[in-house]
Amino acid sequence: MATPKRLVVLVSGSGTNLQALLDAVAADPTGYGAEVVAVGADREGVEGLARAERAGLPTFVVKVKDFATREQWDRALTEATAAHEPDLVVSAGFMKIVGKEFLARFGGRFVNTHPALLPSFPGAHGVRDALAYGVKVTGCTVHFVDEGVDSGPIIAQGVVEVRDEDYADGGAALHERIKEVERKLLVEVVGRLARHGYRIEGRKVSIP
Ligand code: GAR
Repeated sequence: MATPKRLVVLVSGSGTNLQALLDAVAADPTGYGAEVVAVGADREGVEGLARAERAGLPTFVVKVKDFATREQWDRALTEATAAHEPDLVVSAGFMKIVGKEFLARFGGRFVNTHPALLPSFPGAHGVRDALAYGVKVTGCTVHFVDEGVDSGPIIAQGVVEVRDEDYADGGAALHERIKEVERKLLVEVVGRLARHGYRIEGRKVSIP
């Protein structure tokens, strides 16, 4: 059995996608193909970090406001992530755009999950923006990160239907339904990338 690929997961919030990855590894430590070796965040006190601590994992926090410039923050985040020697970095609800240095180091192996069907509704409010547009289907996208906002090559997408009642609560229930699909998709995609490897040619991602 090949050595599991090392994952560093970045979070900003509740960390349910991180938990899904942790559960997948725990359910099949040798077969899944990857293991989470550290969890990073841009803020303290979030449930995502607590989940990592409960799993006995090292954590790190790199806050934008602790640095004079965004470039310095990016360098510190790059170094903190690199210290754990990841094969893949997963942004699972990490609500910051990384900079040049992070991408120079981890480009092509930095995966993000987004709660909309890209290229529609990129950015921090994918669920709200899709509802405001009046779409009938939305979903989630797992993609490699490039220098744009949610614009990198798409690996996989999942579809969720919008219901009339989703307008009543501003998208909270819709986001929960998206997250159910998203967690399964992220676990499946990360496992496949880790077990089989992959190629990125232009915008096309293939997993053998
Ligand atoms: C997920 O739905 C993820 O797609 C979204 O934040 C949620 C995090 O949930 N990310 C973005 O909106 C990034 N633009 P979690 O903390 O429970 O995993």
